[in-house]
Amino acid sequence: MSFKGEHILSVSQFDRDTIQHVFNIAHQMQPYASRQKRTKVLEGAILGNLFFEPSTRTRVSFGCAFNLLGGEVRETTGMESSALSKGESLFDTARVISSYSDVIAMRHPQAGSVAEFALGSRVPVLNGGDGANEHPTQALLDLFTIERELASSGQTIDGMHIAMVGDLKFGRTVHSLSKLLKLYKNLRFTLISPQELAMPSDIVDAIQSAGHQVTVTDALEGNLNADIVYQTRIQEERFPSKEEANLYRGKFRLNQEIYTRYCKSNTVIMHPLPRDSRMEANELDNDLNLNPNLAIFRQADNGILVRMALFALTLGVEHLLTKYECAVPWYSNKHSG
Ligand code: CP
Repeated sequence: MSFKGEHILSVSQFDRDTIQHVFNIAHQMQPYASRQKRTKVLEGAILGNLFFEPSTRTRVSFGCAFNLLGGEVRETTGMESSALSKGESLFDTARVISSYSDVIAMRHPQAGSVAEFALGSRVPVLNGGDGANEHPTQALLDLFTIERELASSGQTIDGMHIAMVGDLKFGRTVHSLSKLLKLYKNLRFTLISPQELAMPSDIVDAIQSAGHQVTVTDALEGNLNADIVYQTRIQEERFPSKEEANLYRGKFRLNQEIYTRYCKSNTVIMHPLPRDSRMEANELDNDLNLNPNLAIFRQADNGILVRMALFALTLGVEHLLTKYECAVPWYSNKHSG
């Protein structure tokens, strides 16, 4: 089982065995992510980190993950600061940047753009999100988080109940996560969204064809007694206008009172982040911050582990981590996960 030299463009590249292999390597990254020790296994390697759409977590965690393996990061952010804005093709950009780098992470607003870019790249390309299409590394870290959170209460992914809430039409994280989850057994999906922002029918069909139970609803109340509630943001940037996005903002708010009334006592709350904390949206209220089942920051931390694993695997060094280990000489009280 090898990912050496492979692009990571879609969750459809994974099956349960390869997912578990990625997770096994991700677990091995914990001591490095929490600064108990360092590894210089990628010393001398360069990540080209190309983000043509806004990002905080994905961009910075790709960069940190690469640094934590000893590598260096060169990046460009925003379309306007790149030669794409002068009419350069994705193919030409890929040819050039792939000669400067050993691996590339990329986000772009158009569906299919990262795959198109990868055709011109001579090094592995990791999809950091392409429009409303896919966000495979987010889906892997979400699944890793679900597995960890459920394991802490003796549960498994097989047989679990997940409620996905919000903008299920444009939310690429729920698209990718659903495609991974359908590989598991006997799941219940409750898909909660305005009818206009429902999960695309091809994804619902694929989930049902894999034998899972699906409930589609536009009501939050009464539909949250799941093992996992995965809340999402209205993807304003994918709407024709801000006014149209405003029609849906704030329709599905989760706060402690709603949690207490409708969720199970151990329902895990997830969100890919950023959560929209503006008053008119407030999809995940700050009053949940002290709820121990709020997993959103553990989820973001897990992004480092999973992205470190993907870099180690695509560059073929996953078996060399300990060989290049060294001590952490600085004071560190760092926690991760
Ligand atoms: N989850 C996620 O993709 O966050 P960013 O947009 O901050 O990268």
